[in-house]
Amino acid sequence: MTWEDDRNKPDDITEIVDRLMPEEIFMKYIFKNAMVLTMNNQEISESCDVLVEDDVISAIGSLNDEQKNNARVIDASGKLLMPGLINGHCHVPMTLLRNYADDMSLQTWLFDHIFPVEEKLQGEDIYYGSLLGIMEMIASGTTCFIDMYDHMNDLARAVEESGIRAQLSRGMINTGEGPDFSDDTRLNETIDFYKRWNGAANGRITGAFAPHAIYTCSPAYIRAIVETAQKYGAPIHVHLDETLVEHEDCLKKYGKTPAKHLYDLGVFEQKTVAAHCVWITEDDARILADNKVTMTHNPSSNLKLASGIAPVPNALNIGVNVALGTDGASSNNNLNMFEEINLAALIHKGANQDPLLITAMESLKMATVNGAIAIGMDNLGVIKEGAKADIIMIDMDKPHLMPVHNVVSALAYSVQASDVCLTMVDGEILYENGEFKTIDKEKVSHGIKKCYERLF
Ligand code: NI
Repeated sequence: MTWEDDRNKPDDITEIVDRLMPEEIFMKYIFKNAMVLTMNNQEISESCDVLVEDDVISAIGSLNDEQKNNARVIDASGKLLMPGLINGHCHVPMTLLRNYADDMSLQTWLFDHIFPVEEKLQGEDIYYGSLLGIMEMIASGTTCFIDMYDHMNDLARAVEESGIRAQLSRGMINTGEGPDFSDDTRLNETIDFYKRWNGAANGRITGAFAPHAIYTCSPAYIRAIVETAQKYGAPIHVHLDETLVEHEDCLKKYGKTPAKHLYDLGVFEQKTVAAHCVWITEDDARILADNKVTMTHNPSSNLKLASGIAPVPNALNIGVNVALGTDGASSNNNLNMFEEINLAALIHKGANQDPLLITAMESLKMATVNGAIAIGMDNLGVIKEGAKADIIMIDMDKPHLMPVHNVVSALAYSVQASDVCLTMVDGEILYENGEFKTIDKEKVSHGIKKCYERLF
């Protein structure tokens, strides 16, 4: 603020203070006496202080007077601090289609129910559907998500206003043979979106290129997308090997697996996030590991659509980076990452009759550090000095969490999403004790009701 123009000059300092909300004054926070799960070398610190200045964690441990100066102190005793969760695969505006089409096969669900409604979606639907999903995410500990959808400017506006972090991409579908796709609307929208939003909102928003899947994109189209992504240095987000139908059709049509098909088309030359990978073979997992492709595991969605159970233990053994995601709220039917952490730590044990598979810590890593690798940020997904201040606080003073024999086990097997009492992204508190700081809940409820009435 400058006061060059005398007409705007306040009479005294109290007027300035009155104008600013507390959130705007506090650019510095101290979480006092917190138990901290750093996810950095899996370390747990009891009763320490964490200093956040602007958008970074600037100190951990005991703080000196200068560090304490002018900070808002948050009493974190009896609470646990950990890195915010990273949702590795989502379609956030699909909250509008929550509980709309259930108990059917993926092909019937997608082609007969979802695609027809999605054709009617307008910018306003995307904006309110996204804000609704973002509210659900920040209230349940998610601070970052990787998303692919349509009307991306409206989705990005919701991300920008809400304060959450996201990698966003416009889903692209075209089964035409080309060879020229320079007039393709979706590809051109992707380019415009990437130029406008990549790096926006203090870097909270990044862009990606998203060929939807091998069964909705021709090989020529995927090639064109890859060539364009290479020109912009953009990462790729794609659905891969989600169902047995996709896997077998690909073998019939191209004589190779879906992963090998994408590899041969050059997709993995770009940094890639591949969602699902339910039917990948061991050779496919080696291709993913060798090319540093992140596989996103979506246990709820895969179970609900009966797609199968992804070979996560094998993929991890082979060295694949496995992140965790919710998929859209129409195939889940929520955006609760603690539920995914819980499922990921349970289903592989049961499916393989092996209680050693996917430990609580492995599951938590998928939802934090591995998600940070997926999005290409090495200063995210951990609590350490210099890392981005994307932090959640969990109230451990709950009957279902006592006694805390083991924090990591508690997080994977006992914590409920509603135990999250504070969510901070980029050093800004977005949610605290049930209150949304950046989103007007009433406005979103009203907007959702209007969209629902028009669409259905
Ligand atoms: Ni998906």
